[in-house]
Amino acid sequence: MDQADTLRKFKPGTAVAGALRQHVKGIAVASGKGGVGKTNIVANLALELSRRGNRVMIFDADMGLGNIHILLGLAPRFNVAHVLTGAKKLRDILVEGPNGIKILPASTGNKKYSELSTEEKLVLKSELEVAQEDFDYILFDIGAGISANVMFFCSAAQDVVVIASPEPTSFSDAYAMMKVLSRDYMVKTFRLIVNSCRDRIDATNIYKRLVMVSDKFALGIKIDFLGHIALDPSVGQAVRKQRLFADLFPGAEASKNVAVIAETLIKTASGPGDMEWDNIFRG
Ligand SMILES: Nc1ncnc2c1ncn2[C@@H]1O[C@H](COP(=O)(O)OP(=O)(O)O)[C@@H](O)[C@H]1O
Ligand SMILES: [Mg+2]
Repeated sequence: MDQADTLRKFKPGTAVAGALRQHVKGIAVASGKGGVGKTNIVANLALELSRRGNRVMIFDADMGLGNIHILLGLAPRFNVAHVLTGAKKLRDILVEGPNGIKILPASTGNKKYSELSTEEKLVLKSELEVAQEDFDYILFDIGAGISANVMFFCSAAQDVVVIASPEPTSFSDAYAMMKVLSRDYMVKTFRLIVNSCRDRIDATNIYKRLVMVSDKFALGIKIDFLGHIALDPSVGQAVRKQRLFADLFPGAEASKNVAVIAETLIKTASGPGDMEWDNIFRG
């Protein structure tokens, strides 16, 4: 997209200064299968990005079952449900986590939002268009599965990071997720993190297998290897203390791995640019 296109996309009422500033990099972190480490990766990655001078927001997009605030030991008063009903502005209910990262909490145990309506999606779009001015990165912690919500957030973000673990079930769910996103939602590029693996060699083997399978079935997608995080007892220990492992155990293997991923992401993330809402609201 050229500069003129970017400026044309600005809605009346948006601060002119905003048009000249860098826009946000929206990164959706998804996995297909649950329990593979998305929430931990999002939160620790946010910390590492902020430690490198970035303003980071986490959007807990696991609508209805979000738990990032639990992981951080926070008890937020407001959550995304208040934004969806129009009671609150997104910007006003962000809570602060370690090193100044901002979190938009999910509404937990609320089945109503497990399928967002078109009106609700439009509210989020316009609220995020305002809030994105304050951030360099927005990380979306996406729920498990391939629901419409999952697809919504993945197609809006500029980058989709897929988390897989060495378990065959996680592999096949990561594949299924990329298949649906590429076939039905025009997402053609993915970035892979292999979590809970032995080492980088183990991770790259899984990566190569995913690429082979997607080539074999002619998905027409590009998968980049973003990095790996070792299976590390520090992760579970930090979770039990409701702290981030990168905060509590900076020397742990998993923490070093997340730091490497943050640096790679800083060098290679798409954008800056607008969130790609047009993909969703077209037609
Ligand atoms: N690299 C890792 N090493 C060891 N345990 C991990 C690792 N990543 C995740 N876990 C374990 O898996 C659990 C689930 O992780 P979580 O981030 O909540 O997954 P998801 O958000 O994908 O459901 C964590 O509470 C932790 O105990
Ligand atoms: Mg989670």
